[in-house]
Amino acid sequence: MDSSPFKAGILSGMVAVITGGGSGIGFEISTQLGLHGASIAVMGRRKSVLDSAVISLQESGIHAIGIEGDVRKNEDAASVLQITFEKFGRIDVLVNSAAGNFLASPEDLSPNAFKTVMDIDTLGTYTMSHAALNYLKKGGLGKQGNGGGLILNISATLHYTATWYQLHVSSAKAAIDSMTRSLALEWGADYDIRVNGIAPGPIAGTTGMSKLAPDEMIGTRLRKETQPLFKIGEKWDIAMAAVYLASNAGKFVNGMIMIVDGGLWLSSPRFIAKEDVKLLSRAVENRSRTAPVGVPRSKI
Ligand code: COA
Repeated sequence: MDSSPFKAGILSGMVAVITGGGSGIGFEISTQLGLHGASIAVMGRRKSVLDSAVISLQESGIHAIGIEGDVRKNEDAASVLQITFEKFGRIDVLVNSAAGNFLASPEDLSPNAFKTVMDIDTLGTYTMSHAALNYLKKGGLGKQGNGGGLILNISATLHYTATWYQLHVSSAKAAIDSMTRSLALEWGADYDIRVNGIAPGPIAGTTGMSKLAPDEMIGTRLRKETQPLFKIGEKWDIAMAAVYLASNAGKFVNGMIMIVDGGLWLSSPRFIAKEDVKLLSRAVENRSRTAPVGVPRSKI
């Protein structure tokens, strides 16, 4: 893993709540925001995961607490934010990183399965954001005397096109991106809160990766000739985007969904080999220049 290009103290004095912050991308964001000076409240459903995350953060010298909670529950959202505020005295950043996923074709995806992912990802993001408003808004509980805070939604690129067996998550993440832009508009105008997203591509060492692209599938997903950069991302890549957006360097960035996928979502098979394209293109060009106007191509 590379060392950070940012100064160690650029988030000093800030407090961040990270949902799903005990593992995967959420944990790396917790770590990097913490290493750059922020105090960290990690929210998650599993106590054992939270406990080991907090120990690891504290061993790195980070002020960190873990609070059990489910983003689907209004009362959990309220209490996690209240406990964080009581512990640290302010809240500057909410990272909505909690998510649920599995591969399923639509006919095997029950309405309840669809709802479960919508509830965790989309409704969970809104529930946490709504509960955080009173802390994050300019002059609010957690931001006295300062500008407003930041909401950072972890999204995906699945829904930019269409992704096999991901109808539920694509729907959930599309709604999150829309929410990011709507809140950036409304809460940016009314409360000085910035709302941005990060859309990671495949990231090594995450639950998402092991669920969506098990080792035996990786070889079939990557194509050197069509995939820009031709590599899987690191959790660090996502966390650095979060550090940038949380820092003062990102103070004019609002309503953006930063894609961090090496350009993967742009990939598509080449319809003609690179060696052939020049010859073919020249031949077609010559033919079109010599063709008399109005003569069908088939007659040339
Ligand atoms: N394929 C199809 N349906 C599935 C499924 C699968 N692999 N896994 C779960 N479901 C369905 C269940 O059958 C159930 O639907 P039903 O009531 O119609 O039978 C519904 O989804 C809810 O399942 P349940 O296990 O009760 O939900 P949960 O809240 O305990 O767990 C999950 C939510 C399924 C998303 C679980 O994987 C989870 O908690 N994931 C969090 C971690 C994660 O996925 N991280 C990746 C982030 S990219």
